[in-house]
Amino acid sequence: MRETRKPRVGVLYGGISAEREVSLRSGEAVANALASLGYPVERIDVLEAPISTLTQERMDVAFIALHGTFGEDGGIQSVLEVMGVPYTGSGVTASRLAMDKVATKHCFRRAGVPTAAFVELEAAWPQERKVAAIAPLGLPVVVKPAAQGSSVGVSIVEAEAQLPGAVARALEFDERAIAEEFIGGRELTVGVLGDRALPIIELLYKGRLFTWKIKYTKNAARHVVNPELPAGLAERVQDLALRAHRSLGCRACSRVDFRLDADNNPFVLEVNTIPGMTETSLLPDAAAAVGIPFAELCRVIVEMALRAGRRGAARPRKRAAAPVPVPVRA
Ligand SMILES: Nc1ncnc2c1ncn2[C@@H]1O[C@H](COP(=O)(O)OP(=O)(O)O)[C@@H](O)[C@H]1O
Ligand SMILES: [Mg+2]
Repeated sequence: MRETRKPRVGVLYGGISAEREVSLRSGEAVANALASLGYPVERIDVLEAPISTLTQERMDVAFIALHGTFGEDGGIQSVLEVMGVPYTGSGVTASRLAMDKVATKHCFRRAGVPTAAFVELEAAWPQERKVAAIAPLGLPVVVKPAAQGSSVGVSIVEAEAQLPGAVARALEFDERAIAEEFIGGRELTVGVLGDRALPIIELLYKGRLFTWKIKYTKNAARHVVNPELPAGLAERVQDLALRAHRSLGCRACSRVDFRLDADNNPFVLEVNTIPGMTETSLLPDAAAAVGIPFAELCRVIVEMALRAGRRGAARPRKRAAAPVPVPVRA
């Protein structure tokens, strides 16, 4: 019997965002994993490849291993829609919503997903207006760009004198920033794959925030899979992860970040539509805990993209494709 040809995968990585370096690592890991399964893989650095070359002639499916601007924000997704190339992860609208922390919070509120109290700040406002807007939240607050990732531009403000610096740092990366009530308890993250929440991972690190430096320094943070939590909390957090994912209309996979307050009430910080995809990243770690090795995770994500692409507007089909089975060890 002739083996059916595996689809050609274009792994899109690199790109122009502040998270370029992380993306290069994710893309390399994904490309190696898919190649090990026999997929014909082409690595495409979006910084170098002209957009007009991202065509169906070049690839059957695009694996988007980009993070941040023009990767995670709906930009590249729009291009691929126009080109008729199926792509991994969420669609244009969900990507745009998830990248924008203000829009995200509005969706969470509508869906009853608990999220920290916040205010939005605009770069053009005079300093006094920014300080006055934040005042009702009290201190400490966390100040962050409205649309970034990897903790870029995120700071904690514990005294009013630190506010101008924190706001300026956040606004280096975006025209809008948000200030959010500081939620000071444990930090958790939950991967979503298909229609199920993966095991919870707790992040243990020194300091009050999960900063860029901690995220990308070897051994600076410890991942605890299935941490001990008060009765019923794990189920609630996993349910909230699914609700948060769905409230934005996300597809295929995501990773939902949480913090607990001092009384262990969970608050959702954000949904990452393109989570880190190195072999030791959080989503792959959670998948491994239910018996899905890294290469298999990459394969499932590709298959989901192909099914979604076949269902997409570019190629209408009479019948909806069957869902991709996610192999899970109980
Ligand atoms: N309201 C908050 N309370 C406590 N910690 C926060 C809050 N917002 C962000 N953080 C910390 O900052 C990190 C990055 O924030 P997050 O909202 O996840 O943005 P991103 O990961 O997109 O940069 C979180 O992992 C968490 O440690
Ligand atoms: Mg985060």
